[in-house]
Amino acid sequence: MKLKNEIYDAIIIGTGIAGLNAAATFGKEKNILLICKENSWDCNTFYAQGGVAVAVDEEDIALHIKDTLEAGAGLCDKKAVEIMCRDGREAIDDLIRRGMEFDTDEEGNLLYTKEAAHSRNRILHAGGDATGRYIHRFLMRENPHRLLYNSIVTDLFIEDGYCHGVRVFHKNEFRNYYAKAVIIASGGVGSIYEYHTNASSISADMQGLCIEKGCDLRDMEMMQFHPTVFIHNKGARKQLLTEALRGEGAHIVDDTGKRFLFEYDARGELSPRSMVSRAIYDWKQKTGREVYLNCSMFDEEFFRHRFPTIYHNLKDLGFNLPYDEIPISPAFHYAMGGIETDLNGKVPGVENLYAVGEAASTRVHGANRLASNSLLEGLVFSRRAVNDILRRDVYFHVKQFPIKEEILEKPIDKALKNRLRSLMWEAAGIIREKEKLQEALEEIEKMLKKDIGKLLRLRLNTSRNIVKSAIYREEPLGAHYIIQKGNA
Ligand code: SIN
Repeated sequence: MKLKNEIYDAIIIGTGIAGLNAAATFGKEKNILLICKENSWDCNTFYAQGGVAVAVDEEDIALHIKDTLEAGAGLCDKKAVEIMCRDGREAIDDLIRRGMEFDTDEEGNLLYTKEAAHSRNRILHAGGDATGRYIHRFLMRENPHRLLYNSIVTDLFIEDGYCHGVRVFHKNEFRNYYAKAVIIASGGVGSIYEYHTNASSISADMQGLCIEKGCDLRDMEMMQFHPTVFIHNKGARKQLLTEALRGEGAHIVDDTGKRFLFEYDARGELSPRSMVSRAIYDWKQKTGREVYLNCSMFDEEFFRHRFPTIYHNLKDLGFNLPYDEIPISPAFHYAMGGIETDLNGKVPGVENLYAVGEAASTRVHGANRLASNSLLEGLVFSRRAVNDILRRDVYFHVKQFPIKEEILEKPIDKALKNRLRSLMWEAAGIIREKEKLQEALEEIEKMLKKDIGKLLRLRLNTSRNIVKSAIYREEPLGAHYIIQKGNA
């Protein structure tokens, strides 16, 4: 096959902020292959609304570090947090120098908003609530490298402690691509949960593949649930209602109008995300009441200008905003855990293999990610990974691997995937019980023994890892809320 000998300086799996910024950092002269599963915009970056958290000046760096560590509930790697908060300002300034436009006031000053658990306004946004989409569009326009669409990575060629490349399923055939370095930037695990805000192609396969290749995942019990999601739209991805709405003054109420969050935390709507998610979940269960986001305090013109994505998406679903209350529920949003890496994104024990962004665990988010830190993480650590690769400039002997056909899907997979989604939502969701986790583990093990396709097997590997990690951590911490049976 003619593609057999294609060799690149680097292969990047994923076209969200981390993957595209890694590609940009390599520069035009390097020979880079970007791979995305479907369309380039089918990534979590594209759907990020609220913004990018960044220290507003030198003085704010220490406070941003403090807020991030506090949200992380003791599980952060302090060095990783310091790197992100210190280098973050420069990474954003670099993006702006390159031409990215964040929202500004009439004098051209950057506008910073507030989100939960930040002790000051430090969230940059673009297009109002379309920050991720604007950044994605900017990085795509900038990208000079080859991009392979509709391509599923089905294998990592790892031998003798080196990663040589990947096998890809593209246009109904399997192809091998080789590179001096492989960067996994494929995002998190959304599709293993019944309700989630993630792009539909985000389904935990690279994490599952890493497990099969002997690479460690870390902190996989740390899954974050976003508190304000409209879950009644069609389609797997549910409609996110950004934290910035509450940052700017929206209220959470039940159907009697009660702002019940204050019964859980004095910070009310601005309590940390995990707290708000649990409170909504618990209040619904306890009282049987519906819970809403109330935006009626906003002026209509302001709302439409500041939150255009939400305004238009919900208008299409029949809502007259900001006047109508929006029924909300928490939904899976972000994986703090991921493929273990060092502070340069390198996967320990495998030369030439890196993971960045949501796919990775640098421990920058600890047990609970501070709102809007993820885009910043993607920018900062993708740069570090590329600089590490360029610094090492390793001698590379390409080893060729056979082009092998793999059975990616089998007829029973669809029903099992659906079952897995509800199992994960029930057992490894917002509130966890050891017994339910144990039962889920047994069911996952049984599914793994069935005659299933490779992609489902990879999903199941990751799900099993999440469930096992949740069982192993017996005490609640951050986003991992585990209780004794029947004891919320
Ligand atoms: C949001 O806009 O609420 C999401 C921001 C984030 O996930 O950090």
